Amino acid sequence: MPVITTIADLKRLHKRRTPKMFYDYAESGSWTEQTFRENTSDFDQIRLRQRIAVDMTNRTTASQMIGQDVAMPVALAPVGLTGMQCADGEIKAARAAEKFGVPFTLSTMSICSIEDVAEHTTKPFWFQVYTLKDDDFMQRLFDRARDAGCSAMVITLDLQIMGQRHKDLKNGLSAPPKFTLASMADLATKWPWGIEMLQTKRRFFGNIVGHAKGVSDPSSLASWTAEAFDHALDWDRVAQLMKMWGGPVILKGILDADDARKAAELGADAIIVSNHGGRQLDGALSSIRALPAILDAVGDKVEVHLDSGIRSGQDVLKALAMGAKGTYIGRAFVNGLGAMGEKGVTTALEVIHKELDTTMALCGRRDVKTLDRDILLVPEDFEGRWCS
Ligand SMILES: Cc1cc2nc3c(=O)[nH]c(=O)nc-3n(C[C@H](O)[C@H](O)[C@H](O)COP(=O)(O)O)c2cc1C
Repeated sequence: MPVITTIADLKRLHKRRTPKMFYDYAESGSWTEQTFRENTSDFDQIRLRQRIAVDMTNRTTASQMIGQDVAMPVALAPVGLTGMQCADGEIKAARAAEKFGVPFTLSTMSICSIEDVAEHTTKPFWFQVYTLKDDDFMQRLFDRARDAGCSAMVITLDLQIMGQRHKDLKNGLSAPPKFTLASMADLATKWPWGIEMLQTKRRFFGNIVGHAKGVSDPSSLASWTAEAFDHALDWDRVAQLMKMWGGPVILKGILDADDARKAAELGADAIIVSNHGGRQLDGALSSIRALPAILDAVGDKVEVHLDSGIRSGQDVLKALAMGAKGTYIGRAFVNGLGAMGEKGVTTALEVIHKELDTTMALCGRRDVKTLDRDILLVPEDFEGRWCS
């Protein structure tokens, strides 16, 4: 068994063990992938202030996200097709998150259904919805999430239409994979994945197939999103969806201060500063670069979370010190899952926790809730000077 010390180690194993179509699906951004790349490279521009001779005993990374206790303010982001990275992937990731004490967010586009995940976990998880045209289906999703005990609804607002990821088109992404010469040749080298997949019945979009009307090709993510997603979405519709759910709401995909103000006005419990991991509007700012302006606009009105580009506990610390109250990891936990299933997700969380805790100590802090800009060295022009 290789020694795992970083998320990059898990990513290498993920690539080796998972069919190319699903690895590529995770490891890509839209179009030129500029935003995808800058999500991580912008974190690297922020440096840390080393402090010495400061008592570092009794440290804690425990905090709260939307009033819920978390072992560290790092939630698992909603990731579609997680159950294709390894068999029953959503259940495995949810169990790892539950044991670690961090929130798990189940995607609408998951393979395991809401009910599947609820049946195999003991604590409430969060559910994520895309904004769909079909009101009946939306209401049923909310009802199912409520019945399953979900404690918050993440409403994703940055995907009314899908950003193009070239690799998915070239690989013919589908769940389950269609048998072509290329996919069969690839699967032949990933046979442990195939054997596990044959042993589970969960191979289709569990929240959609058998629940949504008029889905012409349930195996194709692209065709379903084109058919079902609400291109006419506006803030009134967001307010209506929040009312239909009626519980705690996190609005995801905010990258602009004006949008953040609107989300705060609607009474969201939190917003996620996110560009969907660089998978939607290529050329948009990285989340960490967009964060300060959003905090200036609404930091005292709504809880602000951040995702996109987090690959280490140091990235988590930087986001928190910049002012985010919580963070999410997408690819970092998917790398763990694809590498080693549930154990891999636990390892990803352990790696991030250790990096966060050690970095916090070396910056002279003991409590993750006290992190602030004082421990960071941020380039003067970090937010950039842009003309519009
Ligand atoms: C493979 C993949 C699938 C995703 N699917 C969804 C999804 O179904 N719903 C959603 O709101 N966000 C989705 N996202 C975006 C994540 O929730 C999150 O915003 C992003 O992964 C954060 O960036 P990171 O991967 O750099 O951590 C997906 C991201 C990836 C990488």
